[in-house]
Amino acid sequence: MNPIRNPYAPGAGTPPPELAGRDELREKVRIAIGRIRIGNPAKSVVLVGLRGVGKTVLLDQMRRDAEVEGVYTLKLEAPEDRSLPGLLAPALRLTLLKLSTVAQAKDYATRGLRALAGFAKALKVKFQDIEVGLDLEPEPGLADNGDLEADLAALMEQVGLAARSADTAVVLFIDELQYVREPQLAALITALHRCAQAKLPITLIGAGLPQLLARTAEAKSYAERLFDFPMVGPLSRLEAAQAIVKPARDHGVEFEPQAIDEIYKDTQGYPFFLQMWGKHAWDVAAQSPITRDDVVRATPITVASLDESFFKSRFDRCTPAERRYLRAMASLGPGPHRSGDIANALGRSVNTLGPMRASLINKGMVWSPSHGDTAFTVPLFDEFMQRAMPGEAWRTG
Ligand SMILES: Nc1ncnc2c1ncn2[C@@H]1O[C@H](COP(=O)(O)OP(=O)(O)OP(=O)(O)O)[C@@H](O)[C@H]1O
Ligand SMILES: [Mg+2]
Repeated sequence: MNPIRNPYAPGAGTPPPELAGRDELREKVRIAIGRIRIGNPAKSVVLVGLRGVGKTVLLDQMRRDAEVEGVYTLKLEAPEDRSLPGLLAPALRLTLLKLSTVAQAKDYATRGLRALAGFAKALKVKFQDIEVGLDLEPEPGLADNGDLEADLAALMEQVGLAARSADTAVVLFIDELQYVREPQLAALITALHRCAQAKLPITLIGAGLPQLLARTAEAKSYAERLFDFPMVGPLSRLEAAQAIVKPARDHGVEFEPQAIDEIYKDTQGYPFFLQMWGKHAWDVAAQSPITRDDVVRATPITVASLDESFFKSRFDRCTPAERRYLRAMASLGPGPHRSGDIANALGRSVNTLGPMRASLINKGMVWSPSHGDTAFTVPLFDEFMQRAMPGEAWRTG
């Protein structure tokens, strides 16, 4: 089929042609934002899920949903190497500048810009990556303590007051939230808590890896009362079919049900893989309907392409010792695996492997579905590891 018209969209953060299976979560977030906007209590929502399940595209869609309703949004992606205040300051400035053009909100927004000036000046010593244009002079005593927790709360309160007087809400969309360092995460939680207590229309919709749950609880013990952590997971058979069938149908192309069965078997409903298989099946097929046989012929090409890009980039991020750990896991099958079994396969004791496991969890390579269990974050990764490190040489180092 014509590759130019191929609708599928594999890629990090690339919007899918059909966002399947996420309507309930979108609705949940729409209601939460709507409630917070009018001063009703609602929890902040943090989407948690493994790599490639579609957190970023869902977060982006939720942001568009909010903007349609006239809500002011900020989209941030927490990088591994920047501070949260450094990231937030310019985004909040932009929001305050926008709010300052709304007549009823002008006074509060102006005070917010003063708060931002105090915030940036006072915290610049500690967070040298705060780089933000200052529009006004600070107001002494406003968000300029030099203590992140107090200053961020004071600043966000001003933003919330400005939003309230403009009859809107401000929503911070933060992706990769697991990269925010713990004291900074704690400060953000405190600030949100203060704003929630004051019924101010400002909230967070976040996304990140599953370890976020434990991270936020460690940062602030009351975090679970403030946040909902819905799991973003693989799609069901029905949702996966929708993700594959609808985009093709828009081009007058059909899939045989057996073709969908085959794709579902290979992808396990994992969104990134659905886009990959859809794309290659389309390219391989000569005509509509796309058949099971087309999918079977597309599979080796899809897997080779995953090896070259998706799998390889993950593999390259690991140290040689971490690769051995992953290879040992792969020798035991798709998983999840008990820590003891992995240690046995490596001929090591469990205790000595703790730090390596923690580092692999941090990198998003593995996760812990339940205590003492370790699983790959991506389906088919075990098979990739066996191709990447064939034979038994890994056992001896
Ligand atoms: N609901 C969905 N239906 C169909 N395809 C989807 C869906 N969600 C995501 N995808 C596709 O899956 C791929 C991965 O999506 P995305 O980058 O949002 O995942 P992610 O969870 O943010 O991954 P990471 O943790 O690596 O950042 C993209 O190609 C996207 O188009
Ligand atoms: Mg993402």
